Amino acid sequence: MFNITDIKKIEMSITGSCNAGCPLCARHITGTSIVRKNINTGHLPLDHFYKFVDELGDNTKNIYNTFCGTIGDPLVHPNFSEMWQKSCESFRRTNVDTNASVRTTDYWTELGLISKHYKNCAITFSIDGLKDTNHIYRVFTDFDKIIDNAQAFIKAGGKAEWKFLVFEHNQHQVEEAKALSKKLGFDNFIEQTSIRFSLKNLERTEKLIEEGTIKGSKRSTDKFKKINQIKSADSVGINDTVERASLKNIESINCKSISQGMLFLSHDSKVHPCCYFDAGKQTQEKQYTDYESNVIKLFGENYNSIVNYSVKDILTNHYLANYLPNSFRTLDNTLCDVCVKTCGVKNKETYWGITNRKQKLEVNI
Ligand SMILES: C[S@@+](CC[C@H](N)C(=O)[O-])C[C@H]1O[C@@H](n2cnc3c(N)ncnc32)[C@H](O)[C@@H]1O
Ligand code: SF4
Ligand code: SF4
Repeated sequence: MFNITDIKKIEMSITGSCNAGCPLCARHITGTSIVRKNINTGHLPLDHFYKFVDELGDNTKNIYNTFCGTIGDPLVHPNFSEMWQKSCESFRRTNVDTNASVRTTDYWTELGLISKHYKNCAITFSIDGLKDTNHIYRVFTDFDKIIDNAQAFIKAGGKAEWKFLVFEHNQHQVEEAKALSKKLGFDNFIEQTSIRFSLKNLERTEKLIEEGTIKGSKRSTDKFKKINQIKSADSVGINDTVERASLKNIESINCKSISQGMLFLSHDSKVHPCCYFDAGKQTQEKQYTDYESNVIKLFGENYNSIVNYSVKDILTNHYLANYLPNSFRTLDNTLCDVCVKTCGVKNKETYWGITNRKQKLEVNI
């Protein structure tokens, strides 16, 4: 795909554990706070993390690292502060996404001091509302604790961002939350709509916009419809060959990982090209597991393990160097359905391209 010197972005899932119960998170059965069976709730061992970062060598100075995760919250990792320190010290920039309802204020003060010292790292607080609403989506979190933690972090000199996911139940509080974020000393406030919606909700949302009950524009709901159309590419059998591309109605693949020079490290110590593969693996999505079982037959169980290989070896091994990028050219049965769904180009658009654009729209959960 690319050389170690081409890496610009790294995303890390350092744990499969979380204190919260967000009903549209991949860790839960959709719409509930019930953790899916068979998900790996373990933590990335600290020595594997150090090995990975050290093997990137001086290239870390060009890399933007994000601790985010597909099914866990980074702050739950028992060694998070060591990882935060090492990341701030090594990478060009570091960011963390967290629900922030864990740890003591002393712990957050320590994180703030590290942020102040290195000046190249920030924490994004996922706070979707105020005291009376945040817990509606961020189930099991405690607003007062989150604000205490944020204050401790900011007071110690940490750079903080408030990320507000807009739902019908909290949309009336966006301006109030923005004002509170300023008062508390957050450096930034972003609002984003939940992209995990159902078409049924979208139709209702459109009606509410038309009636003037909620804010929103037809242009943005049209965008969401487009996302939905692209995402719902039909699944076809594993034995279909070149016709797969036309069957799936895609023109080509625009791999986000290649376009952005991006690599993903998971808490099971495996390297993936992107978070979409890790999410497929963690949630045992058939579109991914069918694909990976074939890859394992060809390249062995540990083909992407940082325990067995160096980062350089993983990048230059046959799978990442040839097999995967070739599948984007041949569009045959070596192509993964997750790639079709996420990076398949339809009318010059990809799902990831649309979802990465800034959005402002209120959609029900
Ligand atoms: C699985 S979370 C892991 C990080 C952290 N636990 C958090 O929630 O911020 C990864 C990202 O998904 C986002 N997310 C969670 N629920 C979402 C939703 N319904 N729509 C859009 N993004 C969502 C979070 O805000 C976060 O940036
Ligand atoms: S806080 Fe993040 S990881 Fe935890 S349940 Fe919510 S979205 Fe998922
Ligand atoms: S889903 Fe496939 S095409 Fe898209 S970024 Fe990941 S590896 Fe690349």
